[in-house]
Amino acid sequence: MQRRGAVKVKASKRAVDMASSQLKYLSLGVLVFQTTSLVLTMRYSRTLQGDGPRYLASSAVVVAELMKIVACVLLVFKEHSYSIRALNSILRQEILQKPVETLKLAIPSGIYTLQNNLLYVALSNLDAATYQVTYQLKILTTALFSVSMLGRKLGIYQWLSLLILMGGVALVQWPSDSAVSSEKEPASGGSQFVGVAAVLVACCSSGFAGVYFEKILKESKQSVWIRNIQLGMFGLVFGLFGMLAYDGERVREAGMFQGYSTVTWTVVALQALGGLVIAAVIKYADNILKGFATSLSIILSTLISYFLLQDFEPTSVFFLGAILVIVATFLYGYEGKSSPNPSRA
Ligand code: C5P
Repeated sequence: MQRRGAVKVKASKRAVDMASSQLKYLSLGVLVFQTTSLVLTMRYSRTLQGDGPRYLASSAVVVAELMKIVACVLLVFKEHSYSIRALNSILRQEILQKPVETLKLAIPSGIYTLQNNLLYVALSNLDAATYQVTYQLKILTTALFSVSMLGRKLGIYQWLSLLILMGGVALVQWPSDSAVSSEKEPASGGSQFVGVAAVLVACCSSGFAGVYFEKILKESKQSVWIRNIQLGMFGLVFGLFGMLAYDGERVREAGMFQGYSTVTWTVVALQALGGLVIAAVIKYADNILKGFATSLSIILSTLISYFLLQDFEPTSVFFLGAILVIVATFLYGYEGKSSPNPSRA
């Protein structure tokens, strides 16, 4: 009798493990799809010649946060069998009545806002290629924060694969000779030192904020969507302040939706979807695997851009980088075969 009970428990544990492993790969796959579509849509939107005013980037941030919150509320609504009463009570209970828990999310949200601004400073002082290549250091800062804050253990092959991944993504984004001459121009009045310092701080903030959010998600049983609503609420407040500070005058003149086109709405919706998918990836996989998914999508979007938009000529350095990224991805999983949950603490 006892044995039958133990077998039943084992079987149901196996079913839960299988479901969570499926969610892990599903969320990583959707992240690759979302990042690739976002990059391609943004590239496409840049090639379009609009005649009206350009849309305000600060307004797009606010609208994406709003969409994210609405989507998360709908997901919580679904989790509670579409009961308005249950939705109302869970939001009240978990958000309003737990102000300390809610405030914890102000930290990653504030850091992400700072990060977005730092990246803007970086791009005003560096050429795009140096910026993109240096920003890949976030792969290592994320691993270091995962080890120090979550007690995650990485084997020698995994550290090696992270170094190869970083090198591979750097090569993939290395400018070709023709791009160097046009892109290497230092930004007018820019300071290389300020630019590099801004990217380095952004690498630390990206690693820290991601791992901090992962810690919050994995330390409590709370729904990932409620956590995302809390994160999004602060994001919305910070975003609104940003919009009024940078573009207050223009918003008063022509409204916050000036220059919005179908493509703009697509970019904003893809950005909002990105927030949801990143949260799911952090919950069901982890921040390090997120780095692999985004690296693969850089290769994918570059290749699609070459075949469909024909605005990119792959060089041998690109192919070498792409091979390194793929090798790193397999190498990272390789050790997982000998130890059953490699990147788990
Ligand atoms: O470069 P990095 O991977 O750190 O960028 C993460 C991005 O994902 C940030 O712009 C952040 O605002 C966003 N994010 C989100 N929702 C989450 C976690 C991150 O929108 N739950």
